[in-house]
Amino acid sequence: MEQLLQQIEDYKKEITAYTATDEKAAEEFRIKWLGTKGLVKTIMSEMKNVPNEKRKEFGQILNEFKQLAETKYEEMKSSTSNFKPQTSNLDLTLPGDSIPVGTRHPISLMTNRIISIFQRLGFAVAEGPEIEDDWHNFTALNLPEHHPARDMQDTFYVQQNPDWLLRTHTSNIQIREMQKGKLPIRIICPGRVYRNETVSARSHCFFHQVEGLYIDENVSFADLKQTLYFFAKEMYGNDVRIRFRPSYFPFTEPSAEMDISCMLCKGAGCNVCKKTGWLEILGSGMVHPNVLSNCGIDPNKYTGFAFGMGIERPALLKYGINDIRLFSENDVRFLKQFTSAV
Ligand code: DAH
Repeated sequence: MEQLLQQIEDYKKEITAYTATDEKAAEEFRIKWLGTKGLVKTIMSEMKNVPNEKRKEFGQILNEFKQLAETKYEEMKSSTSNFKPQTSNLDLTLPGDSIPVGTRHPISLMTNRIISIFQRLGFAVAEGPEIEDDWHNFTALNLPEHHPARDMQDTFYVQQNPDWLLRTHTSNIQIREMQKGKLPIRIICPGRVYRNETVSARSHCFFHQVEGLYIDENVSFADLKQTLYFFAKEMYGNDVRIRFRPSYFPFTEPSAEMDISCMLCKGAGCNVCKKTGWLEILGSGMVHPNVLSNCGIDPNKYTGFAFGMGIERPALLKYGINDIRLFSENDVRFLKQFTSAV
């Protein structure tokens, strides 16, 4: 013990006396004293041999020793650094260089906004693969082979394996979540989807969707309506009006498309809403019993609703953009204009 204390005293003297004129010498100091195999560590490890009643006192001595080495090193570093400002040339009144801050892509802004509204209702985000097999994209969704509705979605197939395709909608994620067998399910699923369409100002061969799914006992069409009404109001403002039109999707029964009153003309009729006063924003419906049983869920016990919407169109409307191709051209002049989705 006495010996150890003496040793520390000697070390302290050595540290205090050390001078470093360049960075190399400072680094040598660091390695000798503060490195992973340095003397500070070695001395610290002696702590285990100190009897219990002496530990507190000894701990303090050790800490002082360590601090001495650290402070000494910091001092040496700042006095030997090459980056020492040359005060003579430094004009502190000059404005600093601005650091360019990136902006989020307008599609991400829109997606995040939609997600956050549903998260407040307790929906969790789920994702799925963009390269999908036929079963998850079609068959399980009640679109068996040769079903005419398959033609509605011009599919890109993967050449090496005709069973693989680029998903045509985010509905594949519903299937994957239902297959996990954990109920209830309340998810919101954003993602990119692909369709073999001619690229133009109005349509593209890839775009983005958000899918929603809620499955539990006693879920009804009234739940669907109320949830989507809440969404529309949060998204488009309190005075938005909504309407449901009967529609057809193989994976829902009954199915409905939801329109909102046109936010540009407030329903009076304009070019954007093609003089109807309404804008179609999503497809929805009660999950078809076949879809539930395809995923191992008992349709006599559980019911659910689902919906799916495109992101590009609301984003075009929101930002007054007239060409969908701008979203994927990566032109920074275009991209940096967007800061918020509301
Ligand atoms: N998958 C449909 C599409 O791509 C959108 C959709 C409609 C999804 C109704 C749904 C739904 O979940 O219930 O056009």
